[in-house]
Amino acid sequence: MSENKIESVLREDRVFEPPRSFVEQATFKPDDIQALYDAANSDHEGFWADQAQKHIDWHKPFTQTLDSTDAPFFKWFTDGQLNVSYNCLDRHLDTRGDQTAIIFEADDGEVEHISYRELHARVCRFANALKANGLGKGDRAVIYLPNVPQATIAMLACARIGAIHSVVFGGFSAPSLRDRIDDAEAKMLITADGNYRGGKLIPLKDVADKALSQGCESIDKVIVLKRSGTDVSMQSGRDLWWHDAIDGQAETCEPEWVDAEHPLFILYTSGSTGKPKGIQHSSGGYLLGAIVTCRWVFDLRDDDVFWCTADVGWITGHTYITYGPTACGATQVMFEGVPTYPEPDRFWKMVDTHQVTIFYTAPTAIRALMKHGDEYPQRHALDSLRILGTVGEPINPEAWMWYRQVIGHERCPIVDTWWQTETGGHMITPLPSYSKTKPGSVTHPLPGISAEILDESGKPVTEAGSGGVLVVTKPWPYMLRTIWNDPERYKETYFGMYDAHTYVAGDSAQRDEQGNFRILGRIDDVVNISGHRLGTMEVESALVAHTSVAEAAVVSRPHDVKGEAIVAFVILKTGDGNDELASDLRNWVAEQLGAIAKPEEIRFADGLPKTRSGKIMRRLLRTVARGDEVTQDVSTLENPQILEQLQARGS
Ligand code: PRX
Repeated sequence: MSENKIESVLREDRVFEPPRSFVEQATFKPDDIQALYDAANSDHEGFWADQAQKHIDWHKPFTQTLDSTDAPFFKWFTDGQLNVSYNCLDRHLDTRGDQTAIIFEADDGEVEHISYRELHARVCRFANALKANGLGKGDRAVIYLPNVPQATIAMLACARIGAIHSVVFGGFSAPSLRDRIDDAEAKMLITADGNYRGGKLIPLKDVADKALSQGCESIDKVIVLKRSGTDVSMQSGRDLWWHDAIDGQAETCEPEWVDAEHPLFILYTSGSTGKPKGIQHSSGGYLLGAIVTCRWVFDLRDDDVFWCTADVGWITGHTYITYGPTACGATQVMFEGVPTYPEPDRFWKMVDTHQVTIFYTAPTAIRALMKHGDEYPQRHALDSLRILGTVGEPINPEAWMWYRQVIGHERCPIVDTWWQTETGGHMITPLPSYSKTKPGSVTHPLPGISAEILDESGKPVTEAGSGGVLVVTKPWPYMLRTIWNDPERYKETYFGMYDAHTYVAGDSAQRDEQGNFRILGRIDDVVNISGHRLGTMEVESALVAHTSVAEAAVVSRPHDVKGEAIVAFVILKTGDGNDELASDLRNWVAEQLGAIAKPEEIRFADGLPKTRSGKIMRRLLRTVARGDEVTQDVSTLENPQILEQLQARGS
């Protein structure tokens, strides 16, 4: 961001009060929410201490709430001890052992109901199997599984024995998987033979084998879930089947009591430079965030059927599938497939079948389904729904209105939740009985969260409609603790811009006259494809690793379904580009990084626009990629003629 202010052109005046019918049956009434705000505003630490006592079963109670002595390495509830899986499972057994915890619907439509008692037994058996195979407290296990209950079971089993999991999304390629295993120095890999998504086979074990053959020296054991039934190779002494691993294991397993700050998991996310960052979360603080945000934002209660459509491979699946709903003792739907298979009404059909009351998805899915037309949702009653949520990227007002009218029948509040892998849980979002909502607006920070918008000198931006850097000015319990193996990068990336108490989210934002926040986009070189973050650097590195590429620059342009799409400017070592090479390069990137990183367009050029100091002018490339008129100052360009060439080639 080089302008001092980011001006927004969008004006949105439609405002919706919480529907009265909703407020009447909500657990958290407007007064309850106001009381939370008042308490948090009068005593930030005391507020969080109260919440932690109320919502978590501590094995050993904490006496210190927040330790800021080594800021920005904050510690919460540091002398307390707990076990996260105990909080998600054991504490429900007396009161709701027979209640359904997970309604799982497979890609092919098969449905399985798993009660809390059964989930507890399955987690314990798998935890015993992990121990029997050499995994212990503090060891890392990489989980590379489809979105099936066993993924949640594996995560909770790690938590039970104090092992640290790192889930890698099943769509990631072999090199991406290998890099994550190597960075975490994982001892164990938990994967599956394969699975079907949208009717297509995803050969997970083959990809894992490729990753393992290229590095991953730290891996001792690979546990393989039989899911697709396809033939896979099993290396003797290293690979074993899940069903064999749990055979004969007991259905109880004493939880390992860990300190509140013990790492619960690492989850890798893209940054603007270098390799992906291993975001490290804590046990106590993270769990608290998962619980309170489910309670406040989703008003989650016993008779709800909650459905978060994310994959457990992303933070949304961690917090709003594996940990939040189970810690609250809720019933939730988990889905292996895709929204358009076998038909574009799959989501809506499932809402009716399972009588879903709270539905949480991403703008990219909403836009894709909206394109298929209203007839698909209209085939279904959708009358069980009471709250709709979105996450992952800014939602355009048109999609927001469609969600409200066609899916929510104007009866359901929409919670547009802003947060990040790093924040661990919701940060800025409407509260359903309390907030006036507005299309495209994430409204206001949660109780106990101090968000601000600053200009580059660190002064608050007070003028309505003016943009600035989104920051959080006080630590919160569920924030990331560090970057795995790289505390310096943690300090620099998140606290380097202002001071050690001001968390920089990497997004820009603005406020309207009423103080509502709107997220404008990233301030670094990160693109958001279908709600998933990708560093442009990673795509560039993949491109230059191809034998014919000399240099590459990657930017994004708006895309009506994916949110943003990647445009890559490529300089070849020799010769001119052609369609065949462009298609090879697109596939090459998908192989290196995974299908989500596949560029939408490749543009060949003789050079890239650079400043005299040799920096690629990405803002200029962005303008060119979008086909907009270049109004930037190009007088500092080293090679102005390149600009004409780039524009001519795109038209
Ligand atoms: O740019 C913001 C965008 O997604 C980024 C976080 O991505 P990730 O860590 O992959 O987590 C996604 C799921 C929490 C943010 O920095 N983002 C997320 N939610 C919203 C959003 N942008 C606008 N509105 C949102 N509701």
